[in-house]
Amino acid sequence: MENLLTGEDRKRIREGIAAKYRKVAVSPEGNFKYPVGLAGLEGQNYDRGILRALPEEVLASYCGVGNPFSLGPVRKGEAVLDIGCGAGVDTIVAAVMTGPEGRVIGMDLTPEMLERARENLKKVSLENVTLQEGSAEDLPFPDASFDVVISNGVFNLVPDKARALSEVFRVLKPNGRFMLADQVLTAEQPADTGSVVENWAR
Ligand SMILES: C[S@@+](CC[C@H](N)C(=O)[O-])C[C@H]1O[C@@H](n2cnc3c(N)ncnc32)[C@H](O)[C@@H]1O
Repeated sequence: MENLLTGEDRKRIREGIAAKYRKVAVSPEGNFKYPVGLAGLEGQNYDRGILRALPEEVLASYCGVGNPFSLGPVRKGEAVLDIGCGAGVDTIVAAVMTGPEGRVIGMDLTPEMLERARENLKKVSLENVTLQEGSAEDLPFPDASFDVVISNGVFNLVPDKARALSEVFRVLKPNGRFMLADQVLTAEQPADTGSVVENWAR
């Protein structure tokens, strides 16, 4: 599909993502067809001890589709990148896991989501997190910077997935791990590209 998209399609996709996530930054409730907030986190078996230690308003801002930490641990002292961090719940969970000797960067395309992540960060006492604006298709980091890259519910929104994947492997250190949670289309792809673009971020 990404090869069929025109420049104008990509522009409309960007606008659709910006419009949706401006609303989600206020609250994810009512904007998704799957459980969000605490219900989503509990349903996806996030570590209960970590969840209990985080403020309710932080947990309420979660809108991931799965649990990237179910694929393996993040270890003490590791450097982690969260692509499409949204309001930063996975970023915060990763920062608890790395401990103060590790570092975590949360990166997102939508300034309003990053603003919500900044508010969330103020509510937890973690010194090892930074937030940065950027796109999965063009990661603003040097080669071999991270032990772990996580991403939750983001790649389905990225027009050029092949490029985003090659960016992940560029910024991972040798033997680094990519822990991805996402949703995939299992039915036939609609023949009409116009409707795909219209519905991209819905
Ligand atoms: C479903 S939300 C998931 C947010 C967060 N990962 C979570 O689990 O709560 C998708 C996020 O991806 C971001 N996003 C969409 N396209 C992106 C891209 N090309 N690069 C980086 N972030 C992107 C959106 O702004 C939004 O914050």
